[in-house]
Amino acid sequence: MNNSIMYNFSDKLKDKFINELFEFIKIPSISADSKYTKEVHKTALWVEKALKKVGCNKTKIFKTKGHPIVFGEQIIDPKLKTVLVYGHYDVQPPDPIELWDSNPFDPIIKKTKLHPEGAIFGRGSCDDKGQVFMHFKALELMNLNGLLNCNVKFMIEGEEEVGSDNLELFVKKNKNLLKNDIILISDTSIISNVQPSITTGLRGLSYMEVLVEGAKRDLHSGLYGGAVLNPIHVLTKMISKLHDSDNKITIPRFYEEVIPIRKKDREKISLIPFNLNNYKSELNINEVSGEIGYSTLERSSIRPTLDVNGIWGGYTGEGAKTIIPSKAHAKISMRLVPNQNWKKISKGFEDHFKNLAPKGVKVTVKTHHGAAPFTSPLGSVGYTAAKNAYTKSFGVEPIDQKDGGSIPIVPVFEEILNSRVILMGFGLNSDAIHSPNEHFGLFNFFKGIETIILFYKYYSEKNKN
Ligand code: BES
Ligand code: MN
Ligand code: MN
Repeated sequence: MNNSIMYNFSDKLKDKFINELFEFIKIPSISADSKYTKEVHKTALWVEKALKKVGCNKTKIFKTKGHPIVFGEQIIDPKLKTVLVYGHYDVQPPDPIELWDSNPFDPIIKKTKLHPEGAIFGRGSCDDKGQVFMHFKALELMNLNGLLNCNVKFMIEGEEEVGSDNLELFVKKNKNLLKNDIILISDTSIISNVQPSITTGLRGLSYMEVLVEGAKRDLHSGLYGGAVLNPIHVLTKMISKLHDSDNKITIPRFYEEVIPIRKKDREKISLIPFNLNNYKSELNINEVSGEIGYSTLERSSIRPTLDVNGIWGGYTGEGAKTIIPSKAHAKISMRLVPNQNWKKISKGFEDHFKNLAPKGVKVTVKTHHGAAPFTSPLGSVGYTAAKNAYTKSFGVEPIDQKDGGSIPIVPVFEEILNSRVILMGFGLNSDAIHSPNEHFGLFNFFKGIETIILFYKYYSEKNKN
């Protein structure tokens, strides 16, 4: 590829790519909300068409018990290595919608402090439509310029944001179709636009929902108040007992499998550029908080956590209503680190939570989904290609970094397909994924395409048969 395309996309090409990505973002593929099932299917069709356009000669949409999986491939020579690209076309619900400055499904470009060249605002712009689309455009450009030197497969799913429940079975059943030499994923973050990073670990997840039930109906709080348990009080008390005064999680044996942090890893983390004041000011908070004895970066990447994601019950409508609610609910998730087993942790949570309940209420605990934690070895062929690609495109060597988020299928991939996963993300943590005003920098989008093309170049050079 000549340098003019490589390092300087023409305005015309940029506009074309941005407009295509806008189309992708405009379809509200909210996997969690069954009202959007039709839109999710429409998005799968859009993805299939896009894959065809960029060079896939075989594509297929696979139905699952949930949302469809889109597969595509361009096999140029079966003797060459094969890269499998994974990503997701589903997005998080946009709520609370009133906090968006623009329509989440009508993308616009705005400049921000961290994105002076402009960023695309819209749900999924960064997580993960924008990052998936970089891979499509990278392939298109490689085809256009006769650069493709390996086979490419795509598996783009529609249920990542709800736990990828049906994907494991699909992967198990389609090992041959998905056969590859390396799996490439752009669904994580870099440290900053001047300091790229390679994600070498992800946290796991246990997602729970709890219900505390008292009397069989809501009660008049004057007639019954003071005489029976209030399930919301009970629930909040139980929740407050899930952490001790050091902010450690109180579930028995919760930390049993956790590997104590090594001095070497601590030193590595302390070298990651991080400014606590900027962190606080970006979030508009004046203090951080977490497990005693760990830094903010340690707390948000290599330590396990427990958080209430939502809590509800009783009367929350307009005006006042004097009742003792009969039910109280909460959604609670735990982020897990290497060696913790999400099924064991979920069971441990259930037992502990039930033990915390006083007599007089009924407690139900449900496990939603889980994900295993993931660590990738350094120095593999794919890792080195990724490192060289970032170094070349950003002009700075990437730093290894463990991310705090989870991608459920990643550890499953390594186990079932027996190949390595390379996490080459391009988002920033401040891009507000899952939040109102999610955005993705134009710099990141085009740098991403460039870096992916370089990855293919270095990876296929190393793998000449
Ligand atoms: N792309 C994110 C995960 C992520 C983001 C990892 C940034 C590292 C850095 C993914 O779409 C996501 O949100 N995953 C969920 C998991 C899930 C089971 C709903 C998560 O981490 O909450
Ligand atoms: Mn994602
Ligand atoms: Mn997500």
